[in-house]
Amino acid sequence: MSPEARALESLLAFWADAGVEAAYAEAPQDRMAQGLEALRPRPIALAQPARPLAPAQEPAPQAAEALELARSLAAEAADLAALAAAIAAFEGCPLKFAGARQAVFSRGDPDAPVMVIGEGPGADEDAQGEPFVGRAGKLLDRMLGAAGLTGRVFITNTVFWRPPGNRDPTPAEQQVCAPFLERAIALVRPKALLLVGGSAAKSVLQRKEGVLSLRGRWFEWRSADGALALPAMPTLHPAFLLRQPAAKKKAWEDLLTLMDRVDRQARPS
Ligand code: URA
Repeated sequence: MSPEARALESLLAFWADAGVEAAYAEAPQDRMAQGLEALRPRPIALAQPARPLAPAQEPAPQAAEALELARSLAAEAADLAALAAAIAAFEGCPLKFAGARQAVFSRGDPDAPVMVIGEGPGADEDAQGEPFVGRAGKLLDRMLGAAGLTGRVFITNTVFWRPPGNRDPTPAEQQVCAPFLERAIALVRPKALLLVGGSAAKSVLQRKEGVLSLRGRWFEWRSADGALALPAMPTLHPAFLLRQPAAKKKAWEDLLTLMDRVDRQARPS
């Protein structure tokens, strides 16, 4: 194999490892219809004049409506099965129409003392319909098992449809899914939340710091109506640990801190 082919193979393996197995634009492009003109090389503009940033957008009216609908559907869900059905039927999250095969809600024990919240489904989760079932999920399961939590966790995500190309979910996508996540927390009533990765930690706790500064610390999570308060701890995402195995020590310390609290903590009434 030539050095170029080896380099290309290694680059593709790197992307596959990161969960990126497709590269596509927002809309399909018909290159045949564009004809030869589209294929001709174009001069490259070396210096672009600076453009002012677009002013911050007000939330679209549809987004506010979708959030309202999510709130009322979530509030009506009397149990986790009803909540799963409400999520599957919900059409207010744009991710549902961005290539996801199905809604991915949860797996695990509905009476679990610990609720694990990740950022969003990846390719394996999208195919199988359950969160954290790919390589990162297998590592998560091994780590939770080592901490004595096998069968004692309820696992879900901040969004319930796979973001295209495994990108991070946007704050708007997380916001419209948040009423369902909050209802899941209220139905399970765990002793503590384990927030896996920076995207989940920032969204659930409404913090701006990166996960390296948030991890291993206790925060108080409160429901929107203030009726439920739970201890919540961010930790490193297992996909990050697959790329940076040396960081597993930190994640293990976080799990020990979690278990220490869970053993002492009473379930919320
Ligand atoms: N990463 C996540 O954050 N959630 C999943 O369900 C899978 C991978």
